[in-house]
Amino acid sequence: MTHVPIRVSTLRGDQPIEFDAFVKINEKHILFLRKGDSFEGGRLTRLKEKKLKKMFILQDDETNYRKYLDRNIENAFDPNSGKSIEIRSEIVQGATQARSEDVMENPDNVEMYNDAKAGAMKFVEFLNREGKALTQILHMENMDQNIAHHGVTVSSIAISMAAKLGIKDPKQTQLLSLGALLHDFEHFHTPMNIARPLEAFTPDELKLYKQHPLNGSRRLQDKKHFDQVILNIISQHEEFVDGRGFPQGLAENKLDPLAIVVASANKLDRLLSFEKVPRAEIPKQLMVKYMGCHPLEHLKIMSEIIKT
Ligand SMILES: [Fe+2]
Ligand SMILES: [Fe+2]
Repeated sequence: MTHVPIRVSTLRGDQPIEFDAFVKINEKHILFLRKGDSFEGGRLTRLKEKKLKKMFILQDDETNYRKYLDRNIENAFDPNSGKSIEIRSEIVQGATQARSEDVMENPDNVEMYNDAKAGAMKFVEFLNREGKALTQILHMENMDQNIAHHGVTVSSIAISMAAKLGIKDPKQTQLLSLGALLHDFEHFHTPMNIARPLEAFTPDELKLYKQHPLNGSRRLQDKKHFDQVILNIISQHEEFVDGRGFPQGLAENKLDPLAIVVASANKLDRLLSFEKVPRAEIPKQLMVKYMGCHPLEHLKIMSEIIKT
C-alpha cells in the first residue's frame, strides 16, 4: 500500500476524518487516528508540540481527504454553518498556512502559487467580514514555532491594518496578504531557529539573520510566476521608515508601501510570538522602542489590535 503525505496544518476543526491518518516512525507508517475520529483538542496539540508537519494517508483515501478539506473550508467561510467563529477561524488559519507551506516548499510550482494567491484573497474577505477573526488568530499560539504560522499571523495583522489605513483596492490587499504570508520565505530554507529573542542570537547568527530578506528574494529571482511586489515585500520587510532597518537601510521613499505595512505587522508578531513580550507591555514597547522605525499611525493601530 502506498502512503502519501498530508499537512498537519490542514487537520483542524471538529469534523470526523474520512480516512486513516498515519505517522511515520523509523520509516514505518503507524496508524495514529482512525477514520471517524476527529483531531479535536489534545491530539492535535500533541502533534504540534512534536513539531510534526506531515502525516500520511493511504493513496486510495486521497479523494476522501480532499472532500474533508473542501467541507471544512466551505463551513469555515459560511457564517450560517452553525460553527463557532473559533472553529471557523482555526480552519481558515490552517488552510491558509497549508497553502503558504506548499509555496515555500515548492516555489517552482505555478499552480501552488496561484492557489495561495486565490486563497490570500479569500483570507482578506474572511477577515474583513468577520470582525472577531483577527482576535481569534492572534490568540492561536504558534506552539511549533512554525514560519508559515507566523506568516498567517503577520498577514492577518497586515490586512486589518490596511482596512484601517484605507487601503481597499482588492488587488493591493490580495498582494499584501500573500506577501505577508511568504515574507520569511528564507527562514523556511535555513536551519536557524529564529523563534527566540534577537538578543539571544550570537554575532554570527545575527549576521546571517540580517541577510534573510535579500537571500529570500534572490532565491526567488528566477521564478517568473511570482509577482514583483511579493519579492519587494520579502526583501524589504525588515527595513524601517527611518532608514535604520536592514538589510539595505532603505529610507521610506525607497520602500514599497505594502512592504512598510508588512514590516510593521511583522514587528508585532515578533514581539508577541518570538520575543515573548507580555501582551500588556507590547503597546509601550511599540511606542517607545520602535517609535520612528514604523509609521506612527501603524504603531497606534497595532497598540489597539493587541488589546483585543
Ligand atoms: Fe523576517
Ligand atoms: Fe517575520
